[in-house]
Amino acid sequence: MTVTWRREGDAGLVELANPPVNAMGLAVRQGLLDAVRWAENEPGLSRVIVSGQGRAFAAGGDAREFDGDPVPPHLPDVLDAIEASTVPWIAAAHGVALGGGAELMLACRYRIAAPETKIGLPEVTLGVVPGAGGTQRLPRLVGLDTALDMIANGKPVGALDAQEMGLVDAVADDPVAHAMSLDMTSVQDRPILSALDGPAPDDDAVQKARATAHKRMRGQIAPQKAIDLVALSATTAFRDALARERQTFIELRSTEQAKALRHIFFAERAAKAPGWLDAEPLKVERAAVVGGGTMGAGIAYALLLAGIGVTLLETDADGVERAKANIGRIMDASGRRGLLSDDKRAGIEAALTVTDDYRAAAKADLAIEAAFESMEVKKTVFGALEKALPADAVLATNTSYLDVNEIAAGLADPSRLMGLHFFAPAHIMKLLEIVQGDATSHRALATGFDLAKRLRKVPVLSGVCDGFIGNRILARYREAADTLLMDGTNPWELDEAMVEFGYAMGPYEAQDLSGLDIAHANRQRQAATRDPDRRYIPIGDRMVAEGRLGKKVGVGWYRYPGGGGKVVDPLIEDLVREEAHFAKVERREFTDDEIRRRLVLAMINEAADILAEGIAQPAADIDLVTVFGYGFPRWRGGLMHYADTLGVDAIVADLRALEAEDPIAWKPSAALLACAQQGIALRDYRPNP
Ligand code: COA
Repeated sequence: MTVTWRREGDAGLVELANPPVNAMGLAVRQGLLDAVRWAENEPGLSRVIVSGQGRAFAAGGDAREFDGDPVPPHLPDVLDAIEASTVPWIAAAHGVALGGGAELMLACRYRIAAPETKIGLPEVTLGVVPGAGGTQRLPRLVGLDTALDMIANGKPVGALDAQEMGLVDAVADDPVAHAMSLDMTSVQDRPILSALDGPAPDDDAVQKARATAHKRMRGQIAPQKAIDLVALSATTAFRDALARERQTFIELRSTEQAKALRHIFFAERAAKAPGWLDAEPLKVERAAVVGGGTMGAGIAYALLLAGIGVTLLETDADGVERAKANIGRIMDASGRRGLLSDDKRAGIEAALTVTDDYRAAAKADLAIEAAFESMEVKKTVFGALEKALPADAVLATNTSYLDVNEIAAGLADPSRLMGLHFFAPAHIMKLLEIVQGDATSHRALATGFDLAKRLRKVPVLSGVCDGFIGNRILARYREAADTLLMDGTNPWELDEAMVEFGYAMGPYEAQDLSGLDIAHANRQRQAATRDPDRRYIPIGDRMVAEGRLGKKVGVGWYRYPGGGGKVVDPLIEDLVREEAHFAKVERREFTDDEIRRRLVLAMINEAADILAEGIAQPAADIDLVTVFGYGFPRWRGGLMHYADTLGVDAIVADLRALEAEDPIAWKPSAALLACAQQGIALRDYRPNP
């Protein structure tokens, strides 16, 4: 039974029982309707109290059903029946009441929530709008402005805020007990929300919501549609507006955007240790982190937040001071944003040791090395860690590019080592690439996945290659961008084209933020092994030679006067033209569409090679990497999902056309050719064993 009901005194107790989070699929909707009928026929009931079993009140409509046709009873009809019931329903919520769960609360005559409850209408984050009265009942209860904010942003609110805005009537530790003890005389006479007049029209509030949604959720359809619907509550009769809401919800669920967002939602939840790992993870209680720079300090802080004690190791006393300052700055910033209380900070500081003495790491179960990107340095660090840590401790390197197998070869037991590639800022970014070397043990990998879960990160398994999954795709993206730059465009046009595609910023602005020297050092490292026939664009190297290292020095691809926002620097055009002249390139204009097409194709082709080589598997893992680590628009579903919407045949045809221009850079990947030949999508591609 996914919904149960019983009588206790003069109260009917209805409970949603669809673990783990009471998603409101067909069986729950039917169960609720049956419960309404039962309560109507049960003599002498003063109230029906609806609550949720387990950790949630209800997580909303079952998103797994959204690919098929809607099957009755539909949620709006079920909620209408609850609202119209002669026995008043009371919502007793805890955990989360999201989407349809929040709409169920709105259909009740009285709403109670436990203090930790999160209530919200997050449908836009799945590319749809509330589909069971939320856009009409909520503004009638809390006003147009607040409803616009909640529905267009999709952000849930806590119970106390919900009480303040009038969304819940009471906050109680035991909402069901509170509902049982409620004096029903005042509740009985309350009007139902659908009978109330709509809020007063407020064009300013609507325009403001549109502008905010345009900025924060650029390119997405659902937020603007949600705003249209909430605005309707002020001008249109409840039933008419409800019909529009339903129609919009049904139309949106089958859009590419909604499918893409569902794909990422479920891919994120499916990102777990693979089934073939046959070892128990080591339960990490204390970790050593080597290197207290920005990355190491961020990793240390992330571990501390998850309740893991940290010994942060540096090379000397100055390094210790710098590391302390770095971690202090992160904590200050978190404190200012209200994310770290003084008490919690004191606890974290007590669990942290910063030292240059490796003996302090003698009890660590795990070490994560985040030292300078040099093979020599890494080998020395691991030599010291091997001596200092227990023989069964797991070792990890946070290298971005270096060969994990070569690092492992320096260890007495190479099976202890894996790559744990964090993204800056490490305490915020959700992606964690777990790199499996040739010798890495299942125990080490299982420990990596378990750690990701504790840090609430999205883990993706990667094989060893230059740049692993994410940075390898990024390097190809930048190479394609530099080629466009040389051949005719400029950084700001190119950046704008990618912002239009859905990135928060284009590749040149992003490089200015991270610093041009890192990619430069990398290109230097690769110089010896680079294919001499491959076209090489030296503009980035010239930039570094001229000290244009990015925002940190006030000038890179853009200028940053006074350390502030970016401004276009016309000198770049001279610099690029000069380089093109040296290289005898005849420059031409590129349209925004051409720019996007080339950059996205370059990434897709590289990612397909990554699949073909078995570095990543399945394609959805590349979607997670690109969305959670590299700013690929979530609403396009990640790089490979987006590629499948373009279609493998169209991609191969495009690559063939570009191949005439540069047969090396645009050679179609074996994975794409295999998919085209077999008539399958990239998501179904498996490399030959
Ligand atoms: N539809 C279908 N399945 C859902 C779901 C939904 N609305 N919400 C959660 N689930 C599933 C998850 O896929 C996961 O399944 P799995 O165990 O097979 O991987 C399981 O419920 C637990 O969810 P998870 O996200 O891992 O748990 P959590 O405690 O971290 O978070 C929620 C719980 C409810 C906060 C989170 O799942 C969520 O935000 N859900 C979406 C809510 C929403 O957008 N509702 C509106 C739908 S239109």
